[in-house]
Amino acid sequence: MSSPEKEDLSVNPERRTFLKFMGTIAIGAAVVGGLRGMVQTVIPQSTPLASGFPTMTLVDSSGNPIKTTDLQVNSASVVTFEYPLQGEPNFLLRLGDSSNKDVEVKSMTVKSPASGKTFQSPPGVGPYKSVVASSAICQHLGCEPPIIHFYPPGSGSFPGKIHCNCHGSTFDPYQGFGIVTGPTLEPLPNAVLSYDPSSDTYKVVNMVGPTIYGHTNDLSGGNPLPSTTQTKIQNTGTPTS
Ligand code: FES
Repeated sequence: MSSPEKEDLSVNPERRTFLKFMGTIAIGAAVVGGLRGMVQTVIPQSTPLASGFPTMTLVDSSGNPIKTTDLQVNSASVVTFEYPLQGEPNFLLRLGDSSNKDVEVKSMTVKSPASGKTFQSPPGVGPYKSVVASSAICQHLGCEPPIIHFYPPGSGSFPGKIHCNCHGSTFDPYQGFGIVTGPTLEPLPNAVLSYDPSSDTYKVVNMVGPTIYGHTNDLSGGNPLPSTTQTKIQNTGTPTS
């Protein structure tokens, strides 16, 4: 069987130029495609919540709004809800004193050493003004529960504090989730809650403070939650350390 004859490009300069041009286009397309893939990996895609922070009722796994009695004072269990985007956990805490009596959490000015800026933390809500929430993503390098978690008053090495076992950052949920010890240079972003006494139900309505770790904007760089009106509480139990 004879093999196809090789084309002699030396005698056909126009054809050679054309093939060179096509080769350059193919290489360019491959480079652009590769760069696009790299950029998409580095920059989170989409801006799904351009309309602002959603208002979401806190519900249990069956979709029923949680009540105050569903929240244990000083619970050592990790209780979280996702907000404002999928996969972004927030602590939900009902804070008490060392006798497990509810403590009223006051609004206060919290400073960010990283930026020098301050923000006003939201007060506690609920019948005892003791229920607060914050991002559960450590502001140092992004560790998540259970490696970062709340130690109830009178327990563990960091009583009454949120401590991240990744590198030792500690935050005070009684003081607007401000920094107690570094290496973090940012407090935890506070989730703003509202409480309806007539129905004994809770909603999350906003975030204040620094931007959630890993984002340039709290409302972009991720996907919206499946529901636009409610977010489910998750109780993943008590960490062992
Ligand atoms: S990620 Fe939490 S202390 Fe480093």
